[in-house]
Amino acid sequence: MFVTDVWDDIRELTSGYFAGDEALRDADGNRLHKQQAPIQLLLRIILSSTNPGDVVLDPFAGSGTTSVVAAQLGRKSIGIELDAQNVMLIQNRLAEQRESDDVSRFFNDYTYTPGLEAI
Ligand SMILES: C[S@@+](CC[C@H](N)C(=O)[O-])C[C@H]1O[C@@H](n2cnc3c(N)ncnc32)[C@H](O)[C@@H]1O
Repeated sequence: MFVTDVWDDIRELTSGYFAGDEALRDADGNRLHKQQAPIQLLLRIILSSTNPGDVVLDPFAGSGTTSVVAAQLGRKSIGIELDAQNVMLIQNRLAEQRESDDVSRFFNDYTYTPGLEAI
């Protein structure tokens, strides 16, 4: 895969079947954060713009996707979120380590990136 300026290969979490179980939902199936970003998107942004050990700042943390991905890539993160319910959501999400938040399933996308483990 070659990363270009136009990223049209990352599905929105609103794309039904393709979103899988990544979207956080309550017991009735309602989404807990309507703008939750795909982890695949944050994976690409963080890999392409930071080094291991860097600190990633997300001042509009929402459901905490940035911090969830950053932690798995060996980055520290600071998330700022206005809504107290979202802050709880983030804390639970970071503590839970859901399978659907595991970024390693996307590493094959970067097969042609030499030394990905070190990036
Ligand atoms: C588009 S959402 C971010 C979604 C996030 N990328 C995710 O994956 O869940 C923007 C978030 O910013 C929060 N927000 C809005 N204004 C803010 C402010 N002044 N300070 C901190 N957070 C704010 C909102 O509560 C909302 O959860």
